[in-house]
Amino acid sequence: MADLRTDFLGIKSPNPFWLASAPPTDKAYNVVRAFQAGWGGVVWKTLGEDPSVVNVNGPRYGAIHGPDRRLIGLNNIELITDRPLEVNLREITEVKRDWPDRAIVVSLMVPCEETSWVSILKRVEETGADGVELNFGCPHGMSERGMGSAVGQVPEYIEMVARWCKANTRMPVIVKLTPNITDVRYPARAAKRGGADAVSLINTISSIMGVDLDQMAPSPTIDGKASHGGYCGPAVKPIALNMIAEIGRDAETAGLPISGIGGITTWRDAAEFMALGCGTVQVCTAAMTYGFRVVSDMIEGLSRWMDSKGYTSVDDFVGLAVPKVTDWQYLNLNYVTKARIDQDLCIKCGRCHIACEDTSHQAITHLVDGRRHFEVIDEECVGCNLCVNICPVEDCITMETLPPGAIDPRTGIVVQSEYANWTMHRNNPMSVTSQQFAAEPVVLPGE
Ligand SMILES: Cc1cc2nc3c(=O)[nH]c(=O)nc-3n(C[C@H](O)[C@H](O)[C@H](O)COP(=O)(O)O)c2cc1C
Ligand code: SF4
Ligand code: SF4
Repeated sequence: MADLRTDFLGIKSPNPFWLASAPPTDKAYNVVRAFQAGWGGVVWKTLGEDPSVVNVNGPRYGAIHGPDRRLIGLNNIELITDRPLEVNLREITEVKRDWPDRAIVVSLMVPCEETSWVSILKRVEETGADGVELNFGCPHGMSERGMGSAVGQVPEYIEMVARWCKANTRMPVIVKLTPNITDVRYPARAAKRGGADAVSLINTISSIMGVDLDQMAPSPTIDGKASHGGYCGPAVKPIALNMIAEIGRDAETAGLPISGIGGITTWRDAAEFMALGCGTVQVCTAAMTYGFRVVSDMIEGLSRWMDSKGYTSVDDFVGLAVPKVTDWQYLNLNYVTKARIDQDLCIKCGRCHIACEDTSHQAITHLVDGRRHFEVIDEECVGCNLCVNICPVEDCITMETLPPGAIDPRTGIVVQSEYANWTMHRNNPMSVTSQQFAAEPVVLPGE
């Protein structure tokens, strides 16, 4: 049986599944029930200074659903905790006392003044919490007051506040990053320069979910008006994974511990984040959609998968996929694939033909001998795999790799076994070997 225990910055938890700072972690009642359900840790809902913030009294969520009404994306305009600081601190103390084996990290957001940070850090330390997460991420409400993503969008501020915190607490400091920036490497580097022990990401993405065409106002609408909110849930997972990979392979931040967040719903999502370097993962929307018990599926699924792969501890696979992330220019241009349609699975809906005909490379038939028949024309197929992605039948279309020595019917070129990328291609004016290829063509496909 795989060992799921994690040690993240010295913070131990029985499994890597933590609840992210959000409504599921806003009070002891929730956190205790989460621990009973099996969550390894929580990041307590962000604390601020008293007097506490005030939330709207109307709808604070918007959602995008799939055709089966499954929730794909969630938007919220909720602020940080609206409960008094004293109450939260007391509850954190009690829960940590009663659940010493679980991780309790406390999320914080106070004004950008050193005295504010020093004062709240001291009070959190007294609770016995395992660490703090600096919320430089929330994109709505607090950012207009100079906090949240207003800090997270300025690397100098991140560095400054992280440094204040590191100088004033013995607790590990995690900086939670906002995705509402152009290049996540800059804020991540700033967090590291400021001495942060780790980064966590992503917080929510600035968004407007839709427009109510009767009210002529975006939704959710509060008395006829709306403001942008923060987007999360399964739809944001690809954005989170990319940002995490960027930090993992950046020379300045490689090796910086990461707690991964963004759309994690299943054990497989979690394993993907961990493969890209996350020592723990945090979950919000999945818990809000399906309840705390989703964690048992996550624990069981991850454990079974690790057993099947021979991984005995999470450290065996954390970060293994990072070296496989590269820049486009280093992809092998001698790797040639063609689509293949399984005629037994095909329901003859014609979607692949239409997609390829209208928007790709006219490489799928629709009529053969006067009958509906969908087959790939190798002479035209560029191997883009659009058809695989739009076919409604799973595994009906697959991609086949042409072996070295085979002739690509599209280009007439023999597939080479050697790796060759854009930096070497003769069409690349910057290529060091362009002169050589000019003298000796017919090596690379894709011309
Ligand atoms: C209603 C709601 C409130 C949130 N409040 C906070 C917060 O107080 N502090 C914080 O750092 N993140 C907050 N978040 C962001 C989550 O912690 C998390 O980063 C984000 O939802 C992405 O994870 P997910 O896709 O699993 O939901 C909130 C998210 C939601 C949906
Ligand atoms: S999209 Fe899939 S099921 Fe539909 S015709 Fe093409 S291969 Fe067949
Ligand atoms: S892989 Fe691309 S080019 Fe080939 S058949 Fe499918 S859609 Fe057309």
